[in-house]
Amino acid sequence: MEFSNRCSRRCAYCGLNAHRKDLRRYRMTHEEILAATRLAVRLGYGTVVLQSGEDEGATRDGLGELVRSIKAETPLAVTLSVGECSEADLAAWKQAGADRYLLRFETSDRNLYDRLHPPRRPGERSDRLGLLGTLRKLGYETGSGVLVGLPGQTFESLAEDLQRFAELDLDMIGCGPFIPHPGTALGGEQTTPTPDGQVPATELMGYKVIALARLLCPDANIPSTTALSTLNRTAGRERGLARGANVVMPNLTPARYRNLYEIYPGKPTADVDLHDQDARLRAQIAALGRSVGTGPGASPAYRQRTAAVPTAQGA
Ligand code: 5AD
Repeated sequence: MEFSNRCSRRCAYCGLNAHRKDLRRYRMTHEEILAATRLAVRLGYGTVVLQSGEDEGATRDGLGELVRSIKAETPLAVTLSVGECSEADLAAWKQAGADRYLLRFETSDRNLYDRLHPPRRPGERSDRLGLLGTLRKLGYETGSGVLVGLPGQTFESLAEDLQRFAELDLDMIGCGPFIPHPGTALGGEQTTPTPDGQVPATELMGYKVIALARLLCPDANIPSTTALSTLNRTAGRERGLARGANVVMPNLTPARYRNLYEIYPGKPTADVDLHDQDARLRAQIAALGRSVGTGPGASPAYRQRTAAVPTAQGA
């Protein structure tokens, strides 16, 4: 659920960036978010992801209260994906009951990252790898990932990214091709391969990265991402699943907000009726000969890690 498209950052690749004065901004109310999580329960889902831009209005206390309400009212595992936050924020949300956190490091090439990703305030330096360590230390089930085919991204650095996934022992890995947004600094960028080793931002490269991530991290949860469905509306999602992904993330954002969460253009316009969307998705998965899991769906990596630590119940 994309609960707010407000963002204080200016990432060169992202259509939500603060420079975009033409984009109407929204932030869902707690009641709207809770209604959508109740629907998730009725549809049989075991987990919900709350994603937003870096919305300064989504405060430590506000988001903490929301997480508490969801955990009190539903059996859902709650994943937050709200960008770079302080350790105090992350600890407070964990305390409130948040289970998981997604923060892509986008690229392990420091120069490329710094070029595309200005700090929040001058002089600050964003350290997403450091934050991933903090999340893990706080006990979150931790997810990350990269963009595939960023202008300036080389095959060598992409190989480095993949190696990082294994080193970080990630529980969740989300990767998808870069899709230029015309309202951003990278809007007109070339996405085809060049002789100097530029990674192409293609559907095929997206699949290759998923397949390699699966080989390197057999116990991680890997979604077939929306960016793949955007590049190939009919087959993107199922091809991702056939090439190493084991997770799908149906969009629960209410129809009136969906088009405003425009990280990149051309996102598939899902069914307005979320029951229809769900039925279609289940039929697609059944047609692949796969079955839909139930329950909160922690990654095998996380289950193994936590099973090794005796709990208070001695379980
Ligand atoms: N194309 C594809 N993915 C993008 N993201 C941001 N901008 C784009 C884009 N133009 C991805 C980033 C971010 C995630 C929420 O969306 O990897 O972490």
